[in-house]
Amino acid sequence: MSDTFRAIWITNDGGFRAEFRDIPIRDLPEGEVLVRVQYSTLNYKDGLALTGSPGVIRRYPMIPGIDLAGEVVQSSAPEFNRGDRVVVTGCGLSETVWGGYAGMARVKAADVVPIPAGISTKQAMAIGTAGFTAMQAVIALERNRTKPAGRDIVVTGAGGGVGSVAIAVLAKLGYRVVASTGRREIHDYLRELGAADFIDRTALSAPSNKPMEAERWGGAVDTVGGDTLAGLLRTMAHGSSIAVCGLAGGIALKTTVFPLILRAVNLLGINSVLVHNTERREIWARLERDLDGALLDRMTQEIGLSEIFEWAPKILQGEVRGRTVVDVSR
Ligand SMILES: NC(=O)c1ccc[n+]([C@@H]2O[C@H](COP(=O)([O-])OP(=O)(O)OC[C@H]3O[C@@H](n4cnc5c(N)ncnc54)[C@H](OP(=O)(O)O)[C@@H]3O)[C@@H](O)[C@H]2O)c1
Repeated sequence: MSDTFRAIWITNDGGFRAEFRDIPIRDLPEGEVLVRVQYSTLNYKDGLALTGSPGVIRRYPMIPGIDLAGEVVQSSAPEFNRGDRVVVTGCGLSETVWGGYAGMARVKAADVVPIPAGISTKQAMAIGTAGFTAMQAVIALERNRTKPAGRDIVVTGAGGGVGSVAIAVLAKLGYRVVASTGRREIHDYLRELGAADFIDRTALSAPSNKPMEAERWGGAVDTVGGDTLAGLLRTMAHGSSIAVCGLAGGIALKTTVFPLILRAVNLLGINSVLVHNTERREIWARLERDLDGALLDRMTQEIGLSEIFEWAPKILQGEVRGRTVVDVSR
């Protein structure tokens, strides 16, 4: 094994700078588990970190990449052995802990999850934070009494990573899913994932003077935020829930309390970064059971780490469809 590994290295003294660098393994931070990283992913948050947008990286120098999957090389934690296939998503990677855009990573055992037998190492990164978040959103809706037999479920930002996985899982569980997208050209793709119908994203985010409108949705997975979330709130059915995941369309939420106090609508916050290991394993078990592997493969494209700087702006501009796996060896 070489003493060094290739990684993306981000510094910010006197200006943001991201470059490839060979890093000595001995420089890796403390942690019980040394992982040979095989795949990482490209999430919206990775796009932000790679382009120097504020709010992701909180410590420099940083190796970005919020997700990683690979093989254990060394472990001082009894629950992991050399050769185990493992995944880490969130847990401060690319924020305060060196992340997955690297040939090697050293991580805390409490952050590591064994990849379920029915999921390949590459598929674990096809899922990544986006798919993990989508599953969290579905579980949150279930815990709040959302049922397949009820009204339609709407998924916003449908063509993105969280949206695509949410549609595939919800459809497999028997929900009738309406996909909200700004891209007509991806309707066939979304139908293949399980969308039964479509709503243009501008219809959900259009301004309105009314605090509430006709009840339409039995549940929602929202990755867009802003005016879209405000529009959803006005049209949710009595007692229904919105799993609030993202901010692709904006962070401000201008609304009234009426949907909450007159229709008992629930806003369910989703955070994929800080999740206890026991719950992480449960979420991965649900992904193994409820996400069709063949569909996952069809929504996934693969790129090499050397292409990552070309792809980062694309995901921020909403031009990437589905999930993107990063082979860190090329
Ligand atoms: N809470 C958490 O822990 C967590 C975890 C993962 C992700 N997130 C957040 O969830 C969001 C989605 O993440 P992702 O990885 O799925 O990103 P993604 O692949 O880029 O998908 C985002 C989708 O949102 C839609 N969109 C983009 N810009 C928009 C705009 N200005 N107005 C309305 N819709 C817009 C697009 O869908 P269409 O083209 O189909 O309209 C795009 O494909 C991001 O905000 C991300 O930060 C949060």
